[in-house]
Amino acid sequence: MKIVVTGGLGFIGSHTVVELQNEGFEVIAIDNLSNSSIEVLDGIERISGKKPIFENIDLREKAAVQNFFKKHSDVSGVIHFAASKAVGESVENPLLYYENNINALVYVLQEMTQLENSNFIFSSSCTVYGQAEVMPITENASVQPAMSPYGNTKQIGEEIITDVAKVTKMNSILLRYFNPIGAHESAEIGELPLGVPQNLVPFITQTAFGLRKELSVYGNDYPTPDGTAIRDYIHVVDLAKAHVIAMQRLLDNKNIDKVETFNLGTGTGSSVLEVIQSFEKVSGEKLNYKIVGRREGDITEAYANTDKANNILGWSAKLSLDESLASAWKWEQKIRS
Ligand code: WQD
Repeated sequence: MKIVVTGGLGFIGSHTVVELQNEGFEVIAIDNLSNSSIEVLDGIERISGKKPIFENIDLREKAAVQNFFKKHSDVSGVIHFAASKAVGESVENPLLYYENNINALVYVLQEMTQLENSNFIFSSSCTVYGQAEVMPITENASVQPAMSPYGNTKQIGEEIITDVAKVTKMNSILLRYFNPIGAHESAEIGELPLGVPQNLVPFITQTAFGLRKELSVYGNDYPTPDGTAIRDYIHVVDLAKAHVIAMQRLLDNKNIDKVETFNLGTGTGSSVLEVIQSFEKVSGEKLNYKIVGRREGDITEAYANTDKANNILGWSAKLSLDESLASAWKWEQKIRS
């Protein structure tokens, strides 16, 4: 079975390639290396013993996408990660996000829907919920007006896929991630640090390593037990495994609807201070941090109701916050050695 993974050398993409290869799938990784590096291929090979076929394609180039699918018309499914994902950058440069996250998706879907087997897994995000009214968040929670162009591209992407699936053979699963963190236990692959990290965990590990002076905790005046914001931090390997299970569900025609949606989280919320405490415990490092004002656009609280993924997908997160942070720290030390 040949599976295409777009963004296959990226953070979640590379971990998913490993898990697909571990399950015996033949994988083609597409990446334009705008937010990853070719060395990730070697890391994947060191873990799973084989390298995926790699195609350096920019999915914004329609002809390149058409040529790819002409060459690989026997593809059984596509997992689509390729997208820009920095919330702040999307506010500064919306057109980059609409071109990269929407045009590319449309070009891939145009080819997908011509294939005999059209199984499509879409990388979505809990960001579509905005600040949900009820915790934990179920898949029925309303999609709120997006707080950023990045979030809007995820909402628009889901709508495009839903419209396309209605009138084509394509079957699709939308996976709404909560907060992916950590790295493969081998420390052969992980989150590649390009520029100043926007996300909490890479900023923590870079601060602990001495690359950053201190962590700024964005607000401790939220209506939460310790005043800092709460998120659902899920290990990237647990997340990757969910993609393989979701793809297998479509390949086995077990999906009930043409488009199914699943929240992927641990079901447990952790505050920023709890993440810091957990990191200090597993790393033995004292973290330098200071409390500053809230970050524009941040929500108070988000953690997943995992019943649907547990009961229908047959998947649940296995790794704890401590294990996730320990793997992130091991990765940080490895890439700096
Ligand atoms: C987590 C918490 C911050 C940095 C975003 C996207 C989401 C997904 C994950 C792509 C918040 C606090 C952070 C720092 C801090 N991205 N924080 N100091 O904002 O929940 O989600 O990234 O798929 O779609 O929306 O993640 O890691 O940026 O922040 O205090 O230096 O840590 O305020 O409470 P977020 P995050």
